[in-house]
Amino acid sequence: MRVLLALLGSFAIAASLALPAIADPAPPAAPPVLSSAAQGRKLYLKLNCYGCHGMHGYGTMGPNIARQGDIVEALRGGGAQGMPSYAKLVSIADIIALSAYLQSIGTPAEPAFLRWWEAVPSQ
Ligand code: HEC
Repeated sequence: MRVLLALLGSFAIAASLALPAIADPAPPAAPPVLSSAAQGRKLYLKLNCYGCHGMHGYGTMGPNIARQGDIVEALRGGGAQGMPSYAKLVSIADIIALSAYLQSIGTPAEPAFLRWWEAVPSQ
């Protein structure tokens, strides 16, 4: 009996030593906090808006859309001169973020990064 107890005791100690490593996985990384304008800048690059509106929204083949007010109609319906419809590609949250980005252009809050694919763009 004593041997059995001693065996059980040592097993319990071994188990308690081994447990923390199993029960204590690394905490998940906190999601990055990006401003609405930064999220919009990411979409602006990812959705290729810059291909027609320029790298910073001031226009090339498409018009200057820096500080553009209401962008919902243009994004959803597109335009006769070449603006594609993004109705199936953007959510309301995306449109709000894109709008925040366009409003920030030319202000100190304007995000100008290029690496949209990074969680927190480094440049
Ligand atoms: C293939 C070229 C092209 C792409 C890509 C493009 N646009 Fe456009 N966009 C245009 C053109 C051209 C117009 C002028 C309206 C028209 O087509 O009749 C326009 C118009 C607009 C307007 C309205 C401007 C005004 O003065 O009324 C907004 C806002 C806009 N685009 C935002 C965007 C955003 C945001 C994206 C990316 C999600 C985007 N565009 C992608 C070509 C493009």
